[in-house]
Amino acid sequence: MPLVTTTEMFKKAYAGGYAVGAFNVNNMEMIQAIVEAASECRSPVILQVSAGARKYANPVYLRHLVAAAAETTDIPIAMHLDHGADFEICKASIDDGFTSVMIDASSKPWEENIALTKKVVEYAHAHGVVVEAELGKLAGIEDDVNVAANDAMFTSPDEVQEFTERTDIDSLAIAIGTSHGAYKFKPGQDPKLRIDILEEVGRRLPGFPIVLHGASSVPQDQVAIVNEFGGNMPNAIGIPESELKKAAALAVCKINIDSDLRVAFTAAIRKHFAEHPDHFDPRQYLTDARANMKALIKHKICDVLGSANKA
Ligand code: G3H
Ligand code: 13P
Ligand code: ZN
Repeated sequence: MPLVTTTEMFKKAYAGGYAVGAFNVNNMEMIQAIVEAASECRSPVILQVSAGARKYANPVYLRHLVAAAAETTDIPIAMHLDHGADFEICKASIDDGFTSVMIDASSKPWEENIALTKKVVEYAHAHGVVVEAELGKLAGIEDDVNVAANDAMFTSPDEVQEFTERTDIDSLAIAIGTSHGAYKFKPGQDPKLRIDILEEVGRRLPGFPIVLHGASSVPQDQVAIVNEFGGNMPNAIGIPESELKKAAALAVCKINIDSDLRVAFTAAIRKHFAEHPDHFDPRQYLTDARANMKALIKHKICDVLGSANKA
C-alpha cells in the first residue's frame, strides 16, 4: 500500500479515543520490527526519521527501506520527519517523499516559531504533505526545578488557538510532563502528566490532533536484562503507560516512542551474546533484537495506544 499522510489516521484516532504510535527508525531490522508488529495488530503506524537517523543510515536508504516495508503490507503507514530543525531539512524530506514533517521551532521566540512553521506549512501543503509543530518545552520533573519553573515549560493553553490559526499546521506537539530519553525520572518520583492542560488544549482546539513526544516508559524488565548481561543503565523510570492511556483517550492522536525500542533491541543483543559467546553472524543476534523489539511494539499498540484493529 502506498504511504499515506496522517490526516485520516488522526481523524479516526481522535474520534475513536486512541493514538497512533510513531516509532523512530534507523535501520532495516527496526523498520521490519515495527511494520510486522503493526501488520499483525492491524494497526496504522508512523515511521519517523530524525536528523540523526538520516546521518546514520543515509536518507536514500531509509526512503527505500520504508518503501519496501509499505510494499509488503496493506496497513496505513506514514513516513514522518522527526524534529526538523529548519526549513531545509523539512524541504529535503518533502522532496524525498515523506508524507509528514515536523518543524520543531519550539525553542525559538513566539513570532519566529510562527514564521518558520508557516513557511514549512506553505511548502508542505503545496506538495500534499502534513505538518506537525511544537509549543512548549519538554523536560522532566527534576528534583531541583520548582513548580513555577515547571509551569513555564509546559504548553500554555492560551497560546494554542492563535498558533494553530496563524500557522495552519495539521497537528501540534505539546509539553505536559513528558521528556526525551531513557533517564526521565528517578525511582520513587511520580511522573504524572498534566492531563488538565491536555483537557484545556482539547477544549480550545476541538477535534485537533495533539502529539506527545518523549513518551517512552522505560520498561524495567528490559533494563534489568541489559544490566544483568553486562550493561550499566542507571536506575530510572519513564512515563507510566497508564498516563499514556489517559492521553490517548483524549486529544492525543500521535505518541512518539524511541528510547523503549532502543532498550529492547540492546537487551536482546546483550542476552544473545551472554548465551552464545561464540556467535559472530549478525543475522543471529539481530534476529533476536528484531523479535524482542517487535514484541514490545505489539504490547504498545494493543495495551497502551489502543490502535489495534484500526487499520
Ligand atoms: O526525539 C528524538 C528521537 O528519540 C530521535 O533521537 O536524534 O538520537 O535519532 P536521535
Ligand atoms: P522517547 O525518548 O521518550 O522515546 O521519545 C521519543 C520521541 O519523542 C521522538 O521524537
Ligand atoms: Zn521527540
